[in-house]
Amino acid sequence: MDEVRIACKNCGELLDVKYDWDRLAPPSSLSAFEAKWARRTDPLCLSGVWRFHELLPFAPPEKIVTIGEGQTLLQAADGPGKFVGMQPGRLFLQYEGLNPSGSFKDNGMTAAFTHAHSIGARRAACASTGNTSASLAVYCSVSKLMQAVIFIGSGKISYGKLSQALEYGALTIQIAGDFDDAMLRVKEVCSQLGIYLVNSVNPFRLEGQKTIMLRVLESLGWEVPDWIVVPGGNLGNSSAFGKAFAELKELGLIDRIPRLAIINATGANTLHELYEKRGLRWNAGQPDESIERKFYDEMNAAQHRASTIASAIEINRPVNLMKCLRALEICDGVVREVTDQEILDAKAQVGAGGLGCEPASAASVAGAKKLRKEGVIGADERVVCILTGHLLKDPTATIAYHTTDQDEFNRVLGSRGVRRAEFANRAVSVSNDLDEIIKAIQLYS
Ligand code: F0G
Repeated sequence: MDEVRIACKNCGELLDVKYDWDRLAPPSSLSAFEAKWARRTDPLCLSGVWRFHELLPFAPPEKIVTIGEGQTLLQAADGPGKFVGMQPGRLFLQYEGLNPSGSFKDNGMTAAFTHAHSIGARRAACASTGNTSASLAVYCSVSKLMQAVIFIGSGKISYGKLSQALEYGALTIQIAGDFDDAMLRVKEVCSQLGIYLVNSVNPFRLEGQKTIMLRVLESLGWEVPDWIVVPGGNLGNSSAFGKAFAELKELGLIDRIPRLAIINATGANTLHELYEKRGLRWNAGQPDESIERKFYDEMNAAQHRASTIASAIEINRPVNLMKCLRALEICDGVVREVTDQEILDAKAQVGAGGLGCEPASAASVAGAKKLRKEGVIGADERVVCILTGHLLKDPTATIAYHTTDQDEFNRVLGSRGVRRAEFANRAVSVSNDLDEIIKAIQLYS
């Protein structure tokens, strides 16, 4: 606990937090957490992460750094539900865009930051497609406990996210390369300069991200849904969700585990390729690593780079692959890939039906639709799609989808294989003339 270490000295694999529950005090029922709602003036009860402290008991209360993360909500979404092919009342969207930095990352950042603070770190770093960096930057700017150092691939981050890092005062290193390059570099830099690394290779990040599932259960009156559908990038969320459910089951706090569907973008589909096409499995902790090695050798030989409009998940080398395989085994999971066209159509439907999201988040809804069509998900099952980031994170993709400017559409989306905008809501241009404006409103409303 008092070391900065992310990988096992012997095998090089990531570390995992394992609790000795016999020496701790986990609650005897999940509803016991409801007592905390009455104590919301205590920041640790207000936080949607730390009100579940007993299930991530790695830090003493006085060391916890919270900025009020996790005030998120589960929305019953019949509009998007219809699009997915669900019966009314069966599709729910877990809206993590409500976090202080606008994405689910704050759930994990409060936990990693707490560990960093408890060991006296003064600088913290991450590689990012934009949300981890925005989250780290906000924790640094609010707490003033550390300097944020962020690594981003040049041109690979949306404006919403870049503006957060800059505004919050993070030292922003743009490197010529993509996320996968930045990830390799930040690890080297952190070990050379002794900077605390907060990417999801950090096991404490995942402890915080477990609470997304706890809040889903809380919102469903502690009932377990049938499916959790989540976008897959670096595979931190999916790994954390699997761990959460395994622990809850072990503690007797739930009686069954939901199925997990992880959705890749077609242009960044390592997990889909390895799990669904090449049969890589956790295999009770003995995965056939030659499958993974061969895949990466081929990827290197072809100089293949990730490419998707969902820049948050534009990742070819997911660092949590092994933990994610474990989660897939725990949750009897499936993996699917969706095209940028499918992602943007789903995104427009999410926005039209309630809470908007960024492209990566909509992969969950597009994936649910695909699984519904295949008959893997039943129309009457209870499905929770995780909306990982806020609509305003990536205005460029949204504007390009709704634009009337064909050149803009082609430049931003056509290059990604997007051909149509079936659910576009196009702005109406009129001259600055009262009669014309009134005519347009009468015509279109
Ligand atoms: N959705 C959003 C909005 C994200 O920002 C990310 C990851 C994911 C999904 C994928 O989650 O890694 O747990 O599978 N963003 C990282 C970042 C990589 O740097 O912000 P995952």
